[in-house]
Amino acid sequence: MTSHEALPEGFLFGASTAAHQIEGNNTTSDWWAFEQRTGSFLPEPSGDAADSFHRWPEDMDLLAGLGFNAYRFSIEWARIEPVRGRFSRAALAHYRAMVEGALARGLTPVVTLQHFTLPQWFAEAGGWLAPDAAELFARYAATAAAEVLDGVRYVATVNEPNILARMHSIRQRVTEGGAAEGDIDRIEPGEDITQALVRAHRAASAALREADPRLLTGWTVASLCFYPVEPGAEATVAALARRREDVFTEAARGDDWIGVQAYTRAPVGVDGPVPVADGVRTTIKGWEYYPQALGEAVRRTAALVGPDMPLLVTENGIATADDTERIAYTTEALAGLAAALRDGVDVRGYLHWSLLDNYEWGSYRPTFGLVAVDPETFERTPKPSAHWLGALAREGRLA
Ligand code: BGC
Repeated sequence: MTSHEALPEGFLFGASTAAHQIEGNNTTSDWWAFEQRTGSFLPEPSGDAADSFHRWPEDMDLLAGLGFNAYRFSIEWARIEPVRGRFSRAALAHYRAMVEGALARGLTPVVTLQHFTLPQWFAEAGGWLAPDAAELFARYAATAAAEVLDGVRYVATVNEPNILARMHSIRQRVTEGGAAEGDIDRIEPGEDITQALVRAHRAASAALREADPRLLTGWTVASLCFYPVEPGAEATVAALARRREDVFTEAARGDDWIGVQAYTRAPVGVDGPVPVADGVRTTIKGWEYYPQALGEAVRRTAALVGPDMPLLVTENGIATADDTERIAYTTEALAGLAAALRDGVDVRGYLHWSLLDNYEWGSYRPTFGLVAVDPETFERTPKPSAHWLGALAREGRLA
């Protein structure tokens, strides 16, 4: 297809969110506990976030009204199982209503079971490294399948297991006092946490399939787009890509689909990752402005998982206060996606990050939203980018 050609029938075109980043008051989660700790290095806590716990109908109305046909959101394990083995009927009913609400509005739900946050009890009991972690996660997945997910097709078990694994290993090294500030970029995801996440993913996928064979299970991997900036850095790029990304992508073989999440690219020297060079155009996150990341990421992922596995772009977007820049970035990203589709890469959907300006894991400053949220009144205001992208979705094209 050229970027002006019609998208394939059934292409999912929508936006993504994650529970902790928009719901507010996710008080039984490990992130909430972390945010409250004195001496926490996070600039600000999540608080009420965008109050989407109460305002999700309005969010879905907006999304559907703008022209989109899909919504990726996550359900919160910490709310569903706030105490080990005790499932909250109210929380299950809440998320069931969201699934029904999406379907009723013509939005295909893409549901994530775990997006960075864990129940505090699970974290305290050893988190993913506890001997029964996979079993506990699978029990939660089975409960979700039985009580929440009827009518859903795409379910993601874990969001960005590769980022999660690195965050875990960084936290471990920092708490053990073994990492100086400058070392952090060099910390690799440990083999123990990597394998624990793969086990948890497989156990949850099996539980989901057993509960409802119609569910399509997968997980969503962060595409890091490492590239060499020094002569001789190619081998370092290959080693970094393998440990920080490819093992997680390859673990998706056997799944029904894989999620691709791409924002930027990452420069690498002979000894490892290096900071983005001075003078390079960056976003509020300090990431290089690099819309080509999306096209590169879907091609790279497809090459690793093979031609038979469908891809969904589950995140792509930009943190910027300038909405014109968001449109420019996304235009170019979509052109890269269109070229990949034209070359036969089997991409079934594009879900923009993010529907709303939200809590960016420590700060509200990086604004990724198509829709602005007033922090006091929670009033939602779609930005020009929301109308622009929604029109493309409605017309079923990428340009
Ligand atoms: C995460 C999101 C996050 C986004 C932008 C991804 O790593 O899945 O939760 O907000 O990137 O930083």
